[in-house]
Amino acid sequence: MQPNIQFGVDYYPEHWPQSRWETDFAMMQDMGIDVVRLGEFSWFKLEPADGQFDFGWLDDVLALAAKHDIHAVLGTPTAAPPAWLIAQHPDIQPVDREGRTRYFGGRHHDCQSNPIYRDYIARFVRTYAQHFGKNPTVIGWQVDNELGNSHGGLCYCKYCQRHFQKWLREKYQTIENLNDNWGTAFWSQGYQDFSQIQAPKITVTGENPSEMLDWKECHSDLINEFHAYQAKIIRQYSPDRFITHNMMGFSPVVSYYDLGRQLDFASHDQYPSGHFLADQNSFRGDRCAAELDFIRGVKQQSFWIMEQQTTITGWEVMGRLPKPGQIPLWSMQSVAHGADAIVYFRWRSSALGTEQYWHGILPHSGIPGRAYREIRHFMRQTKPLLKEINGTVPRAKVGIVFSYPQDYAIDIQPQHPDMTYVDTLMTYYKALYRRNVAVDFIQDTADFSQYELVIAPLQYLMTPALADRYAAYVQAGGQLVLTMRTGVKEANNLCMTDAALPGKTLGQVLGLTVPEYDCLRDVDVVIDWAGQQYTGTHWADLIEPTTAEPLATYGSEFYTGTPAITKNQYGQGTAYYVGTELTDALADRLVAGLPTVAAETIATPAEVEIVHRDTAAKRYYFVLNHTGEQQNITIPAGWQAYFSDQDSGHLAPYSYQVFTEEQTN
Ligand code: GLA
Ligand code: GLA
Repeated sequence: MQPNIQFGVDYYPEHWPQSRWETDFAMMQDMGIDVVRLGEFSWFKLEPADGQFDFGWLDDVLALAAKHDIHAVLGTPTAAPPAWLIAQHPDIQPVDREGRTRYFGGRHHDCQSNPIYRDYIARFVRTYAQHFGKNPTVIGWQVDNELGNSHGGLCYCKYCQRHFQKWLREKYQTIENLNDNWGTAFWSQGYQDFSQIQAPKITVTGENPSEMLDWKECHSDLINEFHAYQAKIIRQYSPDRFITHNMMGFSPVVSYYDLGRQLDFASHDQYPSGHFLADQNSFRGDRCAAELDFIRGVKQQSFWIMEQQTTITGWEVMGRLPKPGQIPLWSMQSVAHGADAIVYFRWRSSALGTEQYWHGILPHSGIPGRAYREIRHFMRQTKPLLKEINGTVPRAKVGIVFSYPQDYAIDIQPQHPDMTYVDTLMTYYKALYRRNVAVDFIQDTADFSQYELVIAPLQYLMTPALADRYAAYVQAGGQLVLTMRTGVKEANNLCMTDAALPGKTLGQVLGLTVPEYDCLRDVDVVIDWAGQQYTGTHWADLIEPTTAEPLATYGSEFYTGTPAITKNQYGQGTAYYVGTELTDALADRLVAGLPTVAAETIATPAEVEIVHRDTAAKRYYFVLNHTGEQQNITIPAGWQAYFSDQDSGHLAPYSYQVFTEEQTN
């Protein structure tokens, strides 16, 4: 149920006088816009007083949209409960880890487990979906906004505490079972009853890692259930419409795999300048690419961008002005990695509120400028292309495993202060990105046999079933890369004690044990690879091979000369083990030697990216120049220029080119 829509804008008609709306829609239609997203923060305007609904203005907006051949995605406004509701029920406001209430005045000032809030939500969403659900202009829905943004771990109120207790009771059945799984023998943390368990507010010292992992999983489940609660009502009153959600890449809160199962397709909010507070000199094409690939991996399907950056971002302070060409380039990067539709945030820079400086296609004045011209040109040029490739994805031969429990567990105990799950994944992703090798992000439950190479960094929490799956994959001929901190813990976040690291099964697959390790707090380590020197950071596993052969050895510290990176034949396949955190040059050396990577590599200058999407008949190649300089590449013989005016192989600063190639198999 993914409609053939190419371009849209996030539109907030409630910020502007009604007399302006017609002009906006006429301009949108002229630009080539097919869809507007509306309503996701408009609760007060839709229900100005308890039980009094005012939908007339939105009926008018939808009628004007229809007049201009524009469809609508409606958001439910539950990220912004109105003041009258908060005044009547102040305990809807969330409570933070320190027990402080977070008050009305911004957004997301809501507790998602509060039962009274749920009643108000049910009434609102039912009335809203009944009224708009069959309107022919409405083609789809979005529940709330960026679920997990601001909510992550935020609420520790009495309702959330009760919810946590109930969740734990369902998971563990008996309190003895919970005590065992949380290791509560440590520091006298035993419980007699589930009612004694608190939402984990600040402690005097340290936290129980097993409890924290459950808290994060419970939160993810709660947010997913919050979505399901609304989605069920929408599906009842608005049949044959899609439900999607605007996700946030690698945001570490909600399991998007779980959320994805509720959705017709995934959507993503793409702001390549990053948050305005972040380092503005650090645009990373690789990070943007990875997040897009990850969102494609949520359902292994093409997706929408629900918010694509239009120009300067900012709240209290602002980011840099995108250079000429960058906005179309970033839009094309989204398309290249699997977006079927691009919805731009926002139509016009708002004169009101916190986000006055998160600019839109139109500036505050409403006078079309460079952003408008660049985006309009992009839409006109690429609309036929987007129609042709609608629904397609690349055929990737390399899978990188992304797992929420691993992300949560490494966040709870990073072990090295600078170690994060996503950064470690990115050391591998970036090396593949630099070689233009297509990557799918996959779950640890995926069918690995679809991939020639599976890279599974930081498989820290391990179960016998998962170890067996990795073993079977290699046995049958797969190439597998595992890393430091594999098999350290059981799924409950207690340490594994039945064998030396990385555990019995994986020890055999990898042909080694790891009896000791060194957390590199104050030093990097020299890595020697066939006489070439590289650097490893953060971590050094001291590896004792049984059958593994060393590819690289340590070149400093007392373990100089012992293996740092190994390779082992197991069954029909090969298992690699990486005992340190890779720096770029070392990652390049490692991936260059992997047979699949060598075969899939397309060489380009730095920050010139090539990605593809496949139809049955053709492969579409997208060449993206993220640099501020002209770049030249050699175009292979079989590639046809897609745009008639492109000077193929000669890429202006911040520009793209597209090619097609007949599929050979
Ligand atoms: C997110 C939100 C939007 C808006 C933008 C800009 O992407 O979904 O509502 O707040 O950020 O801050
Ligand atoms: C102190 C405490 C111990 C233990 C160690 C390690 O010495 O007395 O109980 O916590 O630190 O943290």
